[in-house]
Amino acid sequence: MSILDNTDDYQFWRDEKLSNAQSNIEDCLVEIRNPQALSKAEKDKIQQLCCTNNFALFAIKTQDDYAQAVVQINRQVGLLDYDQHLYAQSNGLAHIKQSDKQERSEFIPYTDKAIGWHTDGYYNAVDNRVRAFSLFCVSPAATGGVNQWIDPQMVYLLLRENNVDVVKALTHPQAMSIPEHEVDGQVRRAKSTGAIFLIDEPSAELYMRYTQRKKNIEFLDSSEVKQAMTLLDDLLKIPTPHHFEHTMNTNQGLICNNILHNRSAFVDDPQHPRLLLRGRYSNRVCCYNSKHD
Ligand SMILES: [Fe+2]
Repeated sequence: MSILDNTDDYQFWRDEKLSNAQSNIEDCLVEIRNPQALSKAEKDKIQQLCCTNNFALFAIKTQDDYAQAVVQINRQVGLLDYDQHLYAQSNGLAHIKQSDKQERSEFIPYTDKAIGWHTDGYYNAVDNRVRAFSLFCVSPAATGGVNQWIDPQMVYLLLRENNVDVVKALTHPQAMSIPEHEVDGQVRRAKSTGAIFLIDEPSAELYMRYTQRKKNIEFLDSSEVKQAMTLLDDLLKIPTPHHFEHTMNTNQGLICNNILHNRSAFVDDPQHPRLLLRGRYSNRVCCYNSKHD
């Protein structure tokens, strides 16, 4: 039994979630004095925000080595293992910037184009699930590159409060499939089929795998899933107090339990192109005061 199918458990979880929900972005920002050694207050606040709202923003001072600073911060809040992403450079962080290399530029993150709502690694197999990621801005775009995000657990809550059958459709184990990815006859990634909302083991947390991109995505051919997809996309479109929007500036970062997010298109200053460092992790941010502290 879980919050998906037990009404009492769901209502308890819902009330907790709503009472802890932040809607003011300034309250979600943690100023970090020394990335190598977070103060107790800094660490507690990041973990508490990630526990209740699934994200925290942070800001640091100018550093000699940004990658090292980000890895250190992530480590101290419990993000220890990282995804061996195709283009992740040393220390587990990928450099997200426009690429003129043809193979990379096939992937939207490495272009200046807008990216629709998604959770990271929605195409991954269960044993390679992305449970957390961090984004850090070394250099913003000249214009654009705005991020919006919303806690996917809050999306579930809002949809369920609106129509319980809709969320049920999105928990169908074949709700969304991503075909295998093949390059030159070689399978780089197997087909991925699963629910859009599910209880993730071993964290036992409500998890979302989703992309708004419809190309190369197969949704279950049922009227319930189709109706649910429409309501989900409608919910994402119209800002609620639980939607956040921010253009990350130099020295700002985001740590999150794989929140639902998007990015607007951008224009680079050729002298200072947009550069973000991204880490992906298969574990979640340690919860505030949890036994892992
Ligand atoms: Fe992403």
